[in-house]
Amino acid sequence: MNELVIRQPDDLHIHLRDDDVLPLSVGHVSTQFRRAIVMPNLRPPVVSTAMAIEYRKRILAVTPTGRLFDPLMTLYLTDRTTPAEILMARESGIVHGVKYYPAGATTNSDLGVTDLEGRFKVLEAMMKHGVPLLLHGEVTDKDVDIFDREKVFLDSVLLRVVKEFPDLKIVLEHITTSDSVDFVDACSEKVAATITAHHLLLNRGDLFDGGIRPHHYCLPILKREEHRLALLRAAISGSPKYFLGTDSAPHERHTKEASCGCAGVYTAHAAMECYAEAFDSVGGIDKLEDFASTFGARFYELPLNTSYIKLVRKEQVIPPTYTYSGGAIVPFRAGQGLNWSIET
Ligand code: DOR
Ligand code: ZN
Repeated sequence: MNELVIRQPDDLHIHLRDDDVLPLSVGHVSTQFRRAIVMPNLRPPVVSTAMAIEYRKRILAVTPTGRLFDPLMTLYLTDRTTPAEILMARESGIVHGVKYYPAGATTNSDLGVTDLEGRFKVLEAMMKHGVPLLLHGEVTDKDVDIFDREKVFLDSVLLRVVKEFPDLKIVLEHITTSDSVDFVDACSEKVAATITAHHLLLNRGDLFDGGIRPHHYCLPILKREEHRLALLRAAISGSPKYFLGTDSAPHERHTKEASCGCAGVYTAHAAMECYAEAFDSVGGIDKLEDFASTFGARFYELPLNTSYIKLVRKEQVIPPTYTYSGGAIVPFRAGQGLNWSIET
């Protein structure tokens, strides 16, 4: 198949940020996606509906004129989040989930939750009001090897949450292991997962390919090839539990090419082309539309988009950087080719 026309997709997990890079990230995401679930890990984080409303306005203010793009906002769960805030979030109509970061797990997560059990009243309110819980599923215990942190999270945290809150909608974000696939498969239809393009295209060898590759460093960290293959199988399985979430995360060039580099891969410039390449590599291009445009929308109880995009098997070369007023972003596949393109 050399051409594919699909319903316009949604990116159900993205970092747009909030400063001078915002126009770049919003420009890219809104070229491809009709809607996006926007992560709240700003500095300071988006902890209230009032903050989410203001952030949404800032996103819309930099959305290119004439482009239809709907930012779906999230709140950042902290040790101080209250059940009353959850009700307010639900009633606002603009907040679509609450994000759990274990304190210290990743970029801007220092205000994350230190004690999830202490937040069970909040989870109860989320279950009651139908607000999904979005999880960064890793433990932060330094005694746990970085490659095992996702698996240990499943056993030590998620199993308990799923049992205590059987009707709570949960998205295990950016899964990276066959263990997560097995876990999600075994849960009810309330539990789903997003899969990034970079975790479908790279394994942990790509972190050290001829030298250290800071632009491939993200969290959860890339895993072994057998895990990448398990993610690909899940993505093309046709199971509605797996849907698209890029986790595209801009970091200024010098903060990644550093002695202690930030975690995050920027894929917003060519997200659908990356997914097309991954799906095509295993003969699953016909499964891309449901993964990108149907399953996530259904999970979030959103209407299906009515516009369409066209992907063609045609090489494009990615620029080495994208510049903006505050610096430069090195995108995924910088200076290299991707073998699919979007035709407008
Ligand atoms: O690689 C990542 N980057 N993982 C995350 O969980 C956060 C994200 C970011 O915000 O940069
Ligand atoms: Zn993320």
